[in-house]
Parts: sequence; structure tokens; C-alpha cells
Amino acid sequence: MSHAEDTAGTRRDFLYYATAGAGVVATGAAVWPLVNQMNPSADVRALASIEVDVSGVAEGSQLTVLWRGKPVFIRYRTADEIKAGQDVALSDLVDTNAENDNLPAGSEATDANRALDKDGKWLVMMGVCTHLGCVPLGDGAGDFGGWFCPCHGSQYDTAGRIRKGPAPRNLAVPVAAFTNDTTIKLG
Ligand code: FES
Repeated sequence: MSHAEDTAGTRRDFLYYATAGAGVVATGAAVWPLVNQMNPSADVRALASIEVDVSGVAEGSQLTVLWRGKPVFIRYRTADEIKAGQDVALSDLVDTNAENDNLPAGSEATDANRALDKDGKWLVMMGVCTHLGCVPLGDGAGDFGGWFCPCHGSQYDTAGRIRKGPAPRNLAVPVAAFTNDTTIKLG
């Protein structure tokens, strides 16, 4: 095989692998860190902010978008999920810091301080486990009705706060804001 053919073959293998990895973002976790190490190209990294149309996101579902090379979870929470998040005492939390880039450092991890809007319907978080960076499973996964990271068993509640397992911090809330009723700007 010539060098050119060899390179083409490697390229195809990579594309196939990356496609498989993208599927895993939605359904699994273990493959993501490896894909993530293949640095995004400079033009992708340069996308400091993006706007996401959330008009198609139904209550009780989650949209996952790629931003700055990482998955971001955008969840439209149900009333039950909001209430579950509000009912948790700060003393029951592993990480009492809101971990929310939209708030002053040291803000408490109340449900209200995690949500994007004042009604608490929208939760926007980096889909990156704070243990070793896997992508947690959503849609009510785990013992706390939020997200579950199968890599080493971290469990997050309906506000994305770490409740059990080795992860040390709540899922990070990035800089985000509604620019109109159906658009969320990240960054
Ligand atoms: S990376 Fe999520 S539990 Fe280890």
C-alpha cells in the first residue's frame, strides 16, 4: 500500500470512529474522552458563542449540543423535576457551590441558582462528568432522577448536582442566556 492510500485509510477509519463516538454521546459514556482528546480544529475552538434554537425541545426532554468541543445538556424540566430539585436541603449536597458561571463565585447550589430562567424550567450544563470527564446519561437516569455516569457510578440530581459516587463537583453551568423566547446563547 502506498503512503497516500495508507493515509486515506487512516482518515476513513477516523471518520468512522468519530461518527460512532457521536452516537455514544447520546447513549453511552466511555468513548467520549478518547474522541475529545482529538482536538477540535481551530475554527471550531474559535466559536466562542453559539445560539441554540430550543423551540423543538419538549418538556421532560433534553437537547445535547456540541460547544467548544464539548457536549452541553439543555433540559426542559418537568414540574416534578423542578420540585425535586427545590426540595433538596443544601446540607444534603456533596458540592454546595452553584458552579454556575452566570453567578458570583461562591453562590450556593440551590435549585434556583442552577436553573437558567426564573421559573426553573431550563437547565443548561456541560455534559461532562466532574470525575474524569465522561458524558453522563440523562433522562432521569440514576438514583436521583437526573443524570448517571456509568464510567464510575456518579449520580446527579434533577439540578445536575452531584449526590453520590466519585465526582467531586456539580455539573458545570456555562455562561448562557435566553436571547428570545426560543433561543439560548451559550458563551
Ligand atoms: S467519569 Fe463519571 S464517574 Fe468517573
